[in-house]
Amino acid sequence: MSAALRNIRRPNLPTTSIRVGTSYASLDLWYVDLDVSAETPGCFSHWLSDDELDRAERFHSDLDRARYVVGRIALRRVLADRLGCPPAAVRLAYGRNGKPMLAGGRGHLEFSLAHCGGDAVIALTECAAIGVDIELLRPVPDVESLARLVFSEVERRELELAPDPVSAFLNGWTRKEAYVKALGLGLTAPLTEIIVSLSGTAALLSTGLRGQSASDWRLLNVPHPRAVVAVALGPHPESTGATSGESGEPRRPSR
Ligand SMILES: CC(C)(COP(=O)(O)OP(=O)(O)OC[C@H]1O[C@@H](n2cnc3c(N)ncnc32)[C@H](O)[C@@H]1OP(=O)(O)O)[C@@H](O)C(=O)NCCC(=O)NCCS
Repeated sequence: MSAALRNIRRPNLPTTSIRVGTSYASLDLWYVDLDVSAETPGCFSHWLSDDELDRAERFHSDLDRARYVVGRIALRRVLADRLGCPPAAVRLAYGRNGKPMLAGGRGHLEFSLAHCGGDAVIALTECAAIGVDIELLRPVPDVESLARLVFSEVERRELELAPDPVSAFLNGWTRKEAYVKALGLGLTAPLTEIIVSLSGTAALLSTGLRGQSASDWRLLNVPHPRAVVAVALGPHPESTGATSGESGEPRRPSR
């Protein structure tokens, strides 16, 4: 890896083969420091596609622009290493809700990117859907109001009983976001129909979607020095017949 890209490192992860449903999926994670030297974005921006450069131009804040560019440089570096091609040759396409994926017959390699402040995470797997989320450990005022927007009734009850409501909220939110990113639905997913655990043990308890069984999915938390990081792994989109980065159909709300 290039000397100028020492901001990309693997976390200390004890296992890289995760049981998903009845099979096993590889998991490769990379942590990225987005706040690198001011020269880095310029030095490597020729790796980016025209649409990535256009998007970078639309950021109002220089800091946000630089972080976006460094995130995409890191993503291209990691994907290029896996694919055995130059970073600029990695072609990305986007699902209906914006999920990036490899263009031109996606093959077996799936990835997900998340960032929060100056930290990003890239997750890679083969033959499975994958989503990742990162939230910096910080005080979160009024978790109950946020929970009303994004948590199910079951989750809100668990939050009320939690000894540390902020860490319970961050656990639940990162797990849920990792799952909806694996589906490719993002925030268009029926968030209050999905149920995840909020405790120390990550689990998907209800998918909120027709045609998706919670037992086919694995949620896990991975250690990070200043953030909560959650990864979701599930059935590969091709095995569920989904296209364009979305899988599953919203279940009709029960209320
Ligand atoms: C995906 C989404 C949940 C990201 O949430 P976030 O907390 O702001 O950001 P994160 O750091 O966790 O993830 C951002 C990354 O997720 C990826 N991403 C974007 N859309 C995605 C989707 N639908 N599914 C999975 N991943 C997605 C991208 O790699 C993005 O990084 P980028 O800035 O390099 O492009 C949210 O943006 C979303 O739901 N988008 C889809 C719906 C949509 O576009 N609505 C527009 C309404 S105005």
